[in-house]
Amino acid sequence: MRTLIRDLVNKVGEQVEISGWVHVRRDHGKLIFIELRDRSGVVQVVFLKDLYEQADKLRPEWVVKITGQVNARPANMVNPNISTGTIEILAKEVSVYSEAKTPPIAVDTDGSEIGEEARMKYRYVDLRRARMQRNLRLRSKTLGFIDEYMKGQDFVEVETPILSKSTPEGARDYLVPSRLYPGKFYALPQSPQQYKQLLMVAGLERYFQVARCFRDEDTRGDRQPEFTQIDLEMSFVNREDVLAVLEGLMIELVTREFPEKKIQQAPFPRISYKEAMEKYGNDKPDFRKDKNDPNELAFVWVIDFPFYEEVKDPSATAAAGQAGSGQRKKWDFGHNPFSMPYGEKLPDMTNDNDYDKLKDVMAMQYDLALNGFEIAGGSIRNHLPDLLKKAFTLLGYEEKVVIDKFGHMMDAFSYGVPPHGGAAIGFDRLMMILLNEPNIREVIAFSKTGDGRDLMMDAPSDVDDKQMKELHLKITK
Ligand code: AMO
Repeated sequence: MRTLIRDLVNKVGEQVEISGWVHVRRDHGKLIFIELRDRSGVVQVVFLKDLYEQADKLRPEWVVKITGQVNARPANMVNPNISTGTIEILAKEVSVYSEAKTPPIAVDTDGSEIGEEARMKYRYVDLRRARMQRNLRLRSKTLGFIDEYMKGQDFVEVETPILSKSTPEGARDYLVPSRLYPGKFYALPQSPQQYKQLLMVAGLERYFQVARCFRDEDTRGDRQPEFTQIDLEMSFVNREDVLAVLEGLMIELVTREFPEKKIQQAPFPRISYKEAMEKYGNDKPDFRKDKNDPNELAFVWVIDFPFYEEVKDPSATAAAGQAGSGQRKKWDFGHNPFSMPYGEKLPDMTNDNDYDKLKDVMAMQYDLALNGFEIAGGSIRNHLPDLLKKAFTLLGYEEKVVIDKFGHMMDAFSYGVPPHGGAAIGFDRLMMILLNEPNIREVIAFSKTGDGRDLMMDAPSDVDDKQMKELHLKITK
């Protein structure tokens, strides 16, 4: 029966069977040493004369089974750098499950010396390194904690569709052509925003989901075209209720799963969007006192976002369906059109001069920044159908367009909607910071490259003419 490497230290004197990858091989004349690696650790295996020939063939990354005896190492041979450093295995038998070509990249380093192209093309090899193993395992453990915490707070996990309709989160949609409806498209969700609000109409009251989101935007160190949110929504709440849930979750998560980290200030400090922009020049200020300390976590709430913002080049950005006077085209939603304006009202526009009033409208919207990154955002929603319609028509959207795009939301809100609000945590970004990684790619198993490709699968790629035909598509070059 197989023993895991981490359990070997308690089996001195016993015969064991271990399986894994050859991590390194060292030839000392008549002796051959290998380090064998499995998911639980690394151990040194010694091959004496009788097995020399077999061991001589072994190469890094071969997958083998070794039967042998666990021996204590003499005191002067103890290796304090590995958890199995007090023992070694004297091999009695070795069998090869599979051989491996010379690995294209080293796996016994942290990988920072290797180019992105090679790491991504051979990601299945890259993920073998201790750093990536740690990241994926801690990511899984953290998700486990969040799942338990949220369910303990009476949240219900609901999965929402991936084939969906475009949601206005401000980025470009990934579109999926429909086979059955020529010329029509699904959109991959930029977030489950509309579904979670509809779940509030449906009476769930407290929803959460580990949600995959898709945004066709340029990739950056903290941004991927597909990423994961911890998405939540609550009914019969005000802003303080939502912030309390997020803050409670963050504090518990750090205290329980990352005890080496220090939260600089709790309750988390708050700053208005205006003050953040004026004082720090951005809306995700870094509040750390000591930016060299890898264990310092400075959370800060950014609140009081403007509901509308002035568009710099109205001719370039006027949204589809946005008609009306030139004044109207100069304004767009600051963030999420579904946010509730302060005071649950919007100004009336009687002439163009009234448009100046738009800049004073505040949204019940909040972001959570951590060490200079935006790690969560959300709002109290506008659940009043007439006010929601007005939010769009003030910008010059034709009523027909608003109904076409959001009629389903207004319809739903006409059948009994509770006041509601929520937020979403950028889970990859959060893990990047908690694991002290410089790039979001280090915490995502199969991430895209900086230019949006999957080098391992070779995507995006060509498709068959037959597939194109079925989808009623033609490429124009
Ligand atoms: P928002 O668009 O602010 O809000 O997204 C929430 C959080 O998701 C993270 N995030 C990303 N992470 C990695 N790659 C990306 N491309 C990316 N884009 C966003 C950020 C961000 O704070 N539906 C609303 C939430 C709500 O109102 O409840 C939403 O998606 O950490």
